[in-house]
Amino acid sequence: MIQKERTLSIIKPDAVSKGIIGAIISRFESSGLLIVSAKMLQLTTDQVLEFYNEHKNKFFFKDLMEFMISGPIFVQILEGNYAIRRNREIMGNTDPMKALAGTIRFDYGESCTKNVIHGSDSESSAKYEIAYFFDI
Ligand code: CDP
Ligand code: MG
Repeated sequence: MIQKERTLSIIKPDAVSKGIIGAIISRFESSGLLIVSAKMLQLTTDQVLEFYNEHKNKFFFKDLMEFMISGPIFVQILEGNYAIRRNREIMGNTDPMKALAGTIRFDYGESCTKNVIHGSDSESSAKYEIAYFFDI
């Protein structure tokens, strides 16, 4: 079965400051996910509130906010067969301690908050999140 999808990926500030954008992108490309658009930017507090709105009342939101505005991020649209699910597999569990060996979060994540990467979790979130950052 082939189901070509697009998903949104964000390389978070911890990974950008460690200089591992290239290492992460290599994993996407070697897993059959193509980068079809990309840009670097720094989020404002308003943008974090909007983008992570579902989490605004969670206990970790303050840490998440502080982290996400702390430096530049690298945002990409990834495309490939079942890209949404495939990307989540490559990323690994939210908590790097629970992530499978060989996943990005297992290899590079420091904590539940500083976990290197974001990926859309459903078709509807992919659509919303791509439109949030890109005009395509
Ligand atoms: O990113 P993912 O979809 O795997 O996890 P989420 O549950 O949607 O949480 C969004 C982000 O909030 C995570 O990627 C973490 O950066 C942060 N978070 C946190 O700081 N502490 C937690 N206990 C859970 C999430
Ligand atoms: Mg999520």
